[in-house]
Amino acid sequence: MARQGMAMALLVVGLAAGCWESANAAAMLSQLKPTLAVTASPTPNQVLHGGEDVITVTWSLNATAGTDAEYKKVKVSLCYAPVSQKGREWRKTHDDLKKDKTCQFKVTEQAYAATGTVEYRVALDIPTATYFVRAYALDASGTQVAYGQTLPGATFDVISITGVTTSIKVAAGVFSTFSIASLAFFFFIEKRKKNN
Ligand SMILES: *[C@@H]1O[C@H](CO)[C@@H](O)[C@H](O)[C@H]1NC(C)=O
Repeated sequence: MARQGMAMALLVVGLAAGCWESANAAAMLSQLKPTLAVTASPTPNQVLHGGEDVITVTWSLNATAGTDAEYKKVKVSLCYAPVSQKGREWRKTHDDLKKDKTCQFKVTEQAYAATGTVEYRVALDIPTATYFVRAYALDASGTQVAYGQTLPGATFDVISITGVTTSIKVAAGVFSTFSIASLAFFFFIEKRKKNN
């Protein structure tokens, strides 16, 4: 009896896992329809600064490429351009979108509309690199079913100020260590004078 119960439990777990698998079926980029026409405001090779510059991204359904009946959401991301992926495993493109590392920075995720515009201020944590913009259409389960992107034409560069901030921190650290050291030094000198 206990054994049967155990077998039953395993079966249920197995079925649940199976459903989970199929509900989260991996989307392959090569199998998505390129139905979204995407533009981004930066001119080709424009240089943007994190925390300052704002870009405008638009998308619209290209109805000759497919219908949007199952689209529920649009997710827009900044993606590493091929030139910034070379030799960097952690930015590598995988056709399986669960493994893909190309588009790591979310610009927006919102309810689907056949056309849309979003203004986005380049976030401070965007690494210095060359980027393009990609938009995915997601179905009710959150799986990518279509996309559009600014490649191959328009890429732009982001210069992160994080590097600057780090060197300022280092400088501040050096100076405060130096000032504590000099304070200790003068304290020592004063004490010596008094003792003499
Ligand atoms: C719309 O899709 C068609 C068919 O895929 C394609 O030939 C055309 O270039 C696309 N238009 C735009 C504006 O992307």
